[in-house]
Amino acid sequence: MSPTSFTVRPLVYEDHEWVLEMVRHWGGTDYIVSRGRVIYAAELPGFCAKTADGETLGLATFEVTGEECQLVTLHALTRFAGIGTGLLTAVRDAAAAAGCRRLWLITTNDNVDALRFYQRRDFELVAIHRDLREVARRLKPSIPLVGEYGIPLRDEIELEMSLR
Ligand SMILES: CC(C)(COP(=O)(O)OP(=O)(O)OC[C@H]1O[C@@H](n2cnc3c(N)ncnc32)[C@H](O)[C@@H]1OP(=O)(O)O)[C@@H](O)C(=O)NCCC(=O)NCCS
Repeated sequence: MSPTSFTVRPLVYEDHEWVLEMVRHWGGTDYIVSRGRVIYAAELPGFCAKTADGETLGLATFEVTGEECQLVTLHALTRFAGIGTGLLTAVRDAAAAAGCRRLWLITTNDNVDALRFYQRRDFELVAIHRDLREVARRLKPSIPLVGEYGIPLRDEIELEMSLR
């Protein structure tokens, strides 16, 4: 893949509308469900990746709670061009600067590309929350039964990175 030139910057108030549009576009609703909890991702702090002429290439949102930071969403609109890595690095640095000890996230059992991506970037699997997508479906009925690569979408997988 040819190199894509982009910069990563924190989200600002003026970004809110398009961030909400992205969250809706990716998930069908204003919220995501993670470990049985509804999270309005567009209300969270985050980072975006943009080209020099303002085109959006990616978005990450996160939530700091005490000494933990959850990476809530991470999306690269152009894949395999370093955008996901750039956004992840920005969230990790923000979490460390906020004094967090742990950066964690939830992905799903079908998302084998993300499992590869995170494990090659210092995340470790810490838990498989079996069948938790069923709970998520009660809160968000649009979550499909079948995910990436035709894999049944059942479990939430928790990964973490130690920040100290
Ligand atoms: C996961 C995701 C954020 C990664 O972002 P990205 O910008 O594509 O990632 P990068 O370019 O920084 O790194 C790409 C990785 O994919 C690999 N890759 C390249 N071509 C690939 C291909 N055809 N298939 C699979 N992986 C490929 C690269 O080698 C690199 O991984 P490696 O360093 O382990 O080899 C992105 O794929 C995405 O938005 N996925 C959909 C949303 C999602 O699942 N988000 C995570 C939810 S928890």
